Amino acid sequence: MAFPILSAREAAAHVRHNDNVGLSGFTASGSPKVVTEAIAQHAIKEHEAGRPFKINVFTGASTNKWADGALANANAINRRTPYQNTPDLRKRINSHDAHYFDLHLSELAQKFRYGTFGDLDVAIIEVADVMDNGEVVLGTGVGNVPTYVTRAKKVILELNDKLPKELFGLHDIYMPMDPPYRREIPIYRPSDRIGVPTVKISPEKIVGVVHSHSLDGVHAFTALDDVTLQIGANVCSFLVNELRAGRIPKTFLPLQSGVGNVANAVLFGIADNKEIPPVEMYTEVMQDAVMDLMKMGRCKFGSACSLTLSDHKEEEVLRDLSFFRDKIVLRPAEISNNPEIIRRLGIIAMNTALEADIFGNINSTHVVGTKMMNGIGGSGDFTRNGYLSIFSCPSITKGGLISNIVPMVSHVDHTEHSVDVLITEQGIADLRGKDPVQRAETIIENCVNPMYKELLRDYLKLGKGGQTPHSLHASLAFHTAFLDTGDMRNVDWAKFA
Ligand code: COA
Repeated sequence: MAFPILSAREAAAHVRHNDNVGLSGFTASGSPKVVTEAIAQHAIKEHEAGRPFKINVFTGASTNKWADGALANANAINRRTPYQNTPDLRKRINSHDAHYFDLHLSELAQKFRYGTFGDLDVAIIEVADVMDNGEVVLGTGVGNVPTYVTRAKKVILELNDKLPKELFGLHDIYMPMDPPYRREIPIYRPSDRIGVPTVKISPEKIVGVVHSHSLDGVHAFTALDDVTLQIGANVCSFLVNELRAGRIPKTFLPLQSGVGNVANAVLFGIADNKEIPPVEMYTEVMQDAVMDLMKMGRCKFGSACSLTLSDHKEEEVLRDLSFFRDKIVLRPAEISNNPEIIRRLGIIAMNTALEADIFGNINSTHVVGTKMMNGIGGSGDFTRNGYLSIFSCPSITKGGLISNIVPMVSHVDHTEHSVDVLITEQGIADLRGKDPVQRAETIIENCVNPMYKELLRDYLKLGKGGQTPHSLHASLAFHTAFLDTGDMRNVDWAKFA
């Protein structure tokens, strides 16, 4: 080994207060597992000694309990982007201890190269293998590593002995030129490879290698409930209808699916539906279900930025790389989520909303308009540029205290212009080619829970004209009723008539 072996603590000593730190990975997959925890411990000591210690953390997407979790717990994060999902960091963001700015995942790498956020002081990169010339084989998530190691003054490697060296060949590392020199990114099919299998790091930047020994720590998904299964079934039936009508080519189109149970339900629905031919994925994250579909012959190929697999599934896949090798490619986030490629390939984008409004606008990020949940992630990259953009959510939350379909969303992430179809367990609202009132009528009749239908029909009558007949006084009354009484059903339209 040409590089010094360091303990996590020795490596963490390279990170100083106020440093810009770039982390490898995308979701928990490929994120550092030991050095970030040692930085958090150092921060706690510094705070106890009365000295400030916070760093600015740039990642590919969310991370894990050893990175965001530990650092947020130690109150050691100042700026943070582009996405997160750990409870401790969420609290820090919503209490302004951490300054989070929510960003489309495709944009961060290029913004770094454009100089928007300055340089990185340190990059901490998980690897499966490192060669003496500084070439590394990444783990299960690529994120923004190619750009981070280029822009970092120092690089710390975490060599994870759970990752087999045979991961070599799974990655396709490619960095586009920046304007005014950028050319087309030559991916014409999800399986196209356009780059190289390793990331090349200038050896003089590598300050040392720390050994780590953990899988990504992703929990298995909970069993699917009836609502989730029904949403999945509705999405599948919509896709089959489109296929029958010839609006989706017979050979089908590559799928992007968000993270979580609904995404899993959709994928299992697709697996069971033999009218849909074996699919390809061009997506940012592949979860357990995609691996199962590959084994069943129902998914031919998957291109993603990470394999976000439960530990059990990760072990299975890493043991069986010879089966998966020709079916998977892992790409940097700016390629997996690239608008140019998404538009060209004709991706069917399927994402989840926290709430939607009757006119088709989507809130994916802010609980009751104010509290950050996770972030926009890649949903905007895919939604805005997809061949078809589908949003789904349950019609109600918390037993009906909240309707997920509201008069006006309390925060907008995706506007009506980017949303083709809204799906709940109640049904499907195809919004294409409809004006705002037609969209509202379709959503209310097809997607709203029966306990909220009449209330939303009445809201539509409150509007005093205009193409989008909002009553501006009443448009957030569902939310204020929830804040005041704990139940959106307590809204009283008479006050606004
Ligand atoms: N108003 C208030 N709270 C709401 C709500 C609403 N309309 N809808 C859901 N919630 C609450 C739930 O009750 C739950 O709260 P709890 O944690 O206290 O139980 C929480 O929000 C999460 O809801 P849940 O239904 O479990 O969400 P999920 O796991 O299906 O995730 C998103 C939904 C929108 C948060 C998630 O998909 C996301 O972060 N999306 C944005 C990023 C993205 O799309 N990435 C993928 C792109 S490839």
